Amino acid sequence: MTQVTIHQCAAHEIWPLRNSMLAIAPNTTYPPYPQDDLASSIHLKACLEYHDIGCLSLVEDIHENFNKAQQIRLRGMAVLTHAQRKGIGAKLINYAVEILRERNQTFLWCHARSAAVPFYKAQGFHTNGEEYMIDGIGPHYLMFQQL
Ligand SMILES: CC(C)(COP(=O)(O)OP(=O)(O)OC[C@H]1O[C@@H](n2cnc3c(N)ncnc32)[C@H](O)[C@@H]1OP(=O)(O)O)[C@@H](O)C(=O)NCCC(=O)NCCS
Repeated sequence: MTQVTIHQCAAHEIWPLRNSMLAIAPNTTYPPYPQDDLASSIHLKACLEYHDIGCLSLVEDIHENFNKAQQIRLRGMAVLTHAQRKGIGAKLINYAVEILRERNQTFLWCHARSAAVPFYKAQGFHTNGEEYMIDGIGPHYLMFQQL
């Protein structure tokens, strides 16, 4: 999928994709993140022929497990089902890491759904601690990478 392009965008542009891929039950709305509209937040979308097929968000957020004054949290990582396993998620993460390095950010973490752990490991993330449940969503691992 060489024609897939990655773009920075406003949070509301990726709400439909986030909602369709990450909402926990049909007819429920995946809520916007509190940091969505902060100037420091970054939203990326992957596009194929003018259709949005993937997204992620990067927000300032401190997790107490990590002894780092500056931390960026990856949220809302999703690729449409029909477009998965074609390298689009990896392309989004690579683009995100480039932007963060340019901004001198050195630490990225996320609450990873357990099913997505192999994906995050393939992108250079490591787990921290044991698996835990997030109410209404399911099992997760805390994951991180040094940039
Ligand atoms: C997780 C997700 C974003 C991955 O996106 P993707 O575009 O399919 O991932 P990529 O094609 O870039 O995968 C890159 C590598 O990650 C690994 N990987 C990705 N998905 C995997 C899976 N289901 N099982 C095992 N390894 C996987 C592989 O090493 C893959 O490389 P390969 O296909 O050459 O073997 C996508 O599956 C998704 O949107 N899932 C549903 C929503 C979700 O769970 N989001 C995460 C919330 S924490």
